[in-house]
Amino acid sequence: MNRIILILLICCGSINANCNSPSDDESKIAREKLIKWKIYNKTYQVKGKTSTYEIGICSTPNNSINNGDAIIQKLTNSSSSLGQLSQSNLVGEDNWILLTYENGSRFHNQCENKTRSASILFICGKKTGNITVIQESCNYVFQFQVAELCTSVVQVKNKMSGGAIFIIIILCLASAYLIGGFFYMRIQRGARGIDQIPNLDMWRKLGNLAADGCNFCCRCKTDAARSGYIFDDSGPDLRGDDDILAP
Ligand SMILES: *[C@@H]1O[C@H](CO)[C@@H](O)[C@H](O)[C@H]1NC(C)=O
Ligand SMILES: *[C@@H]1O[C@H](CO)[C@@H](O)[C@H](O)[C@H]1NC(C)=O
Ligand SMILES: *[C@@H]1O[C@H](CO)[C@@H](O)[C@H](O)[C@H]1NC(C)=O
Ligand SMILES: *[C@@H]1O[C@H](CO)[C@@H](O)[C@H](O)[C@H]1NC(C)=O
Ligand SMILES: *[C@@H]1O[C@H](CO)[C@@H](O)[C@H](O)[C@H]1NC(C)=O
Ligand SMILES: *[C@@H]1O[C@H](CO)[C@@H](O)[C@H](O)[C@H]1NC(C)=O
Repeated sequence: MNRIILILLICCGSINANCNSPSDDESKIAREKLIKWKIYNKTYQVKGKTSTYEIGICSTPNNSINNGDAIIQKLTNSSSSLGQLSQSNLVGEDNWILLTYENGSRFHNQCENKTRSASILFICGKKTGNITVIQESCNYVFQFQVAELCTSVVQVKNKMSGGAIFIIIILCLASAYLIGGFFYMRIQRGARGIDQIPNLDMWRKLGNLAADGCNFCCRCKTDAARSGYIFDDSGPDLRGDDDILAP
């Protein structure tokens, strides 16, 4: 999980949009989603293993150290900023949104003395606003559940591809044809045995044609003219097609 987020961070790091500036379309869409879900400009509190976090979603938590801090980490005796609102980055797709904050308080003799930074990953979850602390070291990672993000996933899953629907329709038509034809031949024509198969003559003809085709293709002598080639109108293979397709 952390690795995925790291990759996301590296890939998306170049997009320099934030909570406030409506600069590029991608972050605008993500921001509008957060507003729609009523989590934009809200603050949340979550307990980790060692500390408590006050998390602002594009907002500043109540008792921030400096104006403009987006996430506050509270230890027993101290608190530090995990990122600033002005250094935010918002990217997203249909089923996730990633909000990152940078330039928090600087580490001392840890994490290469870098400034603290944090990411909030919004993903599908049962309860909107349920936050899980994923990582509590140099790079802080939080997972934020949003019920609305699940619907898009479900929709994608339920959508059948055009090809599958086509095949199902063909199968339905074929079985309707066979069953309907079977009863028609049996009841109306009094057919029995193999004669009950509808349009038996046509299918026999088709079988013959197919056999001819196979014979032609597979047993062809190399010197024979390829008269049955698909672009050649004079070929014997295609001549029967009109009869076959006729009901
Ligand atoms: C964010 O919420 C605060 C109150 O919690 C409000 O004063 C402020 O105007 C809001 N900002 C935006 C941009 O909606
Ligand atoms: C911050 O303060 C506002 C009112 O000023 C309150 O509604 C909100 O719950 C507080 N947030 C936290 C995380 O304490
Ligand atoms: C917090 O401060 C108290 C004294 O003010 C000290 O005894 C305690 O060890 C400190 N705890 C941590 C985790 O630094
Ligand atoms: C990072 O934050 C410090 C104050 O905490 C500020 O002086 C500095 O300009 C900020 N850096 C950037 C790139 O915004
Ligand atoms: C971090 O800063 C301290 C001084 O505050 C310094 O002694 C140490 O070498 C620095 N570490 C790194 C990895 O830059
Ligand atoms: C939040 O989600 C975790 C699992 O991710 C679950 O254990 C916990 O009960 C949930 N909390 C609420 C209030 O739904």
